[in-house]
Amino acid sequence: MSIIYDEKSKLFYLHTNKTSYIMQIYDAGYLSHVYWGKRIKNFSITNKDIGEEVVNLDAVLQEYSAYGTGDFRTPSYEIQLENGSTTGELKYLNHRIFSGKRPLEGLPSTYVESENEADTLEIVLEDTISRLEIVLSYAVFENYNVITRNAKLINKSNKEFKIKRALSFNVDFNNSNYDVLQLSGAWARERHIYRRALIPGIQSIDSKRGISSHQQNPFIALLSKDANEDFGDVYAFNLAYSGSFLAQVEVDQFFTTRVQMGINPFDFEWNLEPGQSFQTPEAIMVYSSNGLGEMSRTYHKLYRERLCKGAYRDKERPILINNWEATYFNFDAKKIEEIASIGKELGMELFVLDDGWFGKRDSDNCSLGDWVVDLKKLPEGLDNLVENITKKGIRFGLWFEPEMVSPDSDLYRAHPDWCIHVPNRTPAQWKYQRNQLVLDLTRKEVCDKIIEMVSNILSSTPISYVKWDMNRSLTDIGSAVLPSKNQRETVHRYVLGLYYILEEVTSKFPNILFESCSSGGGRFDPGMLYYMPQTWASDDSDAVERLKIQYGTTMAYPPVSIGAHVSASPNHQIGREAGFDIRGNVAMGGTFGYELDLTKLTEEEKETVKKQIEYFKDIRHITQFGDFYRILSPFEGNETAWMFVTEDKKEAMVFYFKVLAEPFGVSKKLKLKGLNEKTTYQIDGRDIIVGGDELMYSGINVENTFGDFTTYSWRLKEVE
Ligand code: DGJ
Repeated sequence: MSIIYDEKSKLFYLHTNKTSYIMQIYDAGYLSHVYWGKRIKNFSITNKDIGEEVVNLDAVLQEYSAYGTGDFRTPSYEIQLENGSTTGELKYLNHRIFSGKRPLEGLPSTYVESENEADTLEIVLEDTISRLEIVLSYAVFENYNVITRNAKLINKSNKEFKIKRALSFNVDFNNSNYDVLQLSGAWARERHIYRRALIPGIQSIDSKRGISSHQQNPFIALLSKDANEDFGDVYAFNLAYSGSFLAQVEVDQFFTTRVQMGINPFDFEWNLEPGQSFQTPEAIMVYSSNGLGEMSRTYHKLYRERLCKGAYRDKERPILINNWEATYFNFDAKKIEEIASIGKELGMELFVLDDGWFGKRDSDNCSLGDWVVDLKKLPEGLDNLVENITKKGIRFGLWFEPEMVSPDSDLYRAHPDWCIHVPNRTPAQWKYQRNQLVLDLTRKEVCDKIIEMVSNILSSTPISYVKWDMNRSLTDIGSAVLPSKNQRETVHRYVLGLYYILEEVTSKFPNILFESCSSGGGRFDPGMLYYMPQTWASDDSDAVERLKIQYGTTMAYPPVSIGAHVSASPNHQIGREAGFDIRGNVAMGGTFGYELDLTKLTEEEKETVKKQIEYFKDIRHITQFGDFYRILSPFEGNETAWMFVTEDKKEAMVFYFKVLAEPFGVSKKLKLKGLNEKTTYQIDGRDIIVGGDELMYSGINVENTFGDFTTYSWRLKEVE
């Protein structure tokens, strides 16, 4: 059992193989945080015996904090009672420990396949005056070195509460000697890495967009000052939630640090009837004493194996060809079949028909919601197209944007109140929002209609892959069916509605590979990964831009989940010209596919692509399921390098990129990571066998070349 409660000292020990998380119940009933870090067997120096009268809550490290009774830092929750009061005080009531891990009602979460994979501790805290109970859940994945947390608020009184804030967890640290790392950006510039020193006060990131967002990812980490890729303490937090969130770090007067994360309290309220409960999303917490690299590998393994679901979880992902950047809305059946035929000829395994196949969709002005094939473009129908394509020996995938409706659509004309909107206000529809509105997923009938429309198409013809897109943030927040006191629940209810739809659709079609997308990577979060094992990382498909986007994304998310394609040169988003080698090598850091007009390739280019595909088929078991090591950061210089090593360390793939040419042709050495120092490796295409120790401690030669955009990939195989 990885969870121990010592009655005498009132200490809870949560042990993974490498870490311990320790809490204590004070005599006065408060639940305090004691320690999180490297594994410690027994803990002796604690504060438990401070008497009831002298407890200064402002100086106590807490597990879940209340407002109004002396802790002046930001509380973990806040409820308002019928009498208007918001004061709270939480004391220990009881706890239970059990093997296994329970799913969260209505929300995505990490899971176990057998009870011995995790243990769970539930601590119940209560506020005796309001009769609020809060169940804090801690699941300990011993072998994965991960602890997950969530909180559930239960109204035990006979009056309604208004929840004004309900975060998923609170972790207090006894010092503030850390940097905070976050993944921030914009559309086409997602998840860039930012690191800054903590200072007194609040530093936070959030989303108010109804999606986890391009701008801030629901991930933060505290790093010891000396921490880097391979050394130092890292405390990381990732929220399995796809809506508006808050991640906050607060340094107080005593230089303690409070970390909190959860549903964004901004513009949020929830009415909790007597007897009802409110479930907060799960946070996945990782401590690494070996820097960011180990932190990422810990997340990658857990997410690959116990977050993602479905038939593709452990399967190599098909090499796809997507027609979006090849044709945009301008295609017909002939063009599509031509692209698919060439794709097949070059070794691609899946053709994906993107936006524009339905309604009268010749631009983004109309037709979302009308999921009926456009017979002008595809006169023989979808069925016929799918048959013609699959007959060629390449599978078929389809794009949807099911959460949206165009004002110019039959669906909108039939149900104008089915979109999120505020009475008497015309919803924002400016060009930036793609002339579309968001369906009101707080309404069951709307969710059911979406499930029906998508299911009808998916069961009508053999579709192997779905790209589930979402291209608009939520504005004009309001629902036509919620009473005024429940209006501020709309955004969270939207996310719950989305999860209901995704649960239904992905369970109905377990053999379809789902890829999530939100104008590129606007919803790259563990919540979406639970339903869909890959996410289109960014609408910026330029290889050089992708170095930063993909490097940043790997902080929390496994390479196999990162949608990455080779696109045209010059690149459509930024106009940069780059060769197939660098475009290919960058895309091999993710799922790998193509997104360009294959009918325009020269014979020579086709030969290059064919070779690239053969190569990738041979190595994808290493890149998609191996351990990932970052070596050189695109945020720190002109070079980037990363590598993958199989779990048994017998095979590895190294990728190196140098963006701009550098003068003076001196070869450099690149120190590899993660290899077995006791064995030797054959380097593909080179006539030498090199020890793992030499490759890691001295390095592999990297030759300087003439011109911009140098890239190399090396395959290593163990030789006895
Ligand atoms: C945004 C996506 O990120 C693109 O890949 C493409 O599918 C378009 N939407 C289609 O409208």
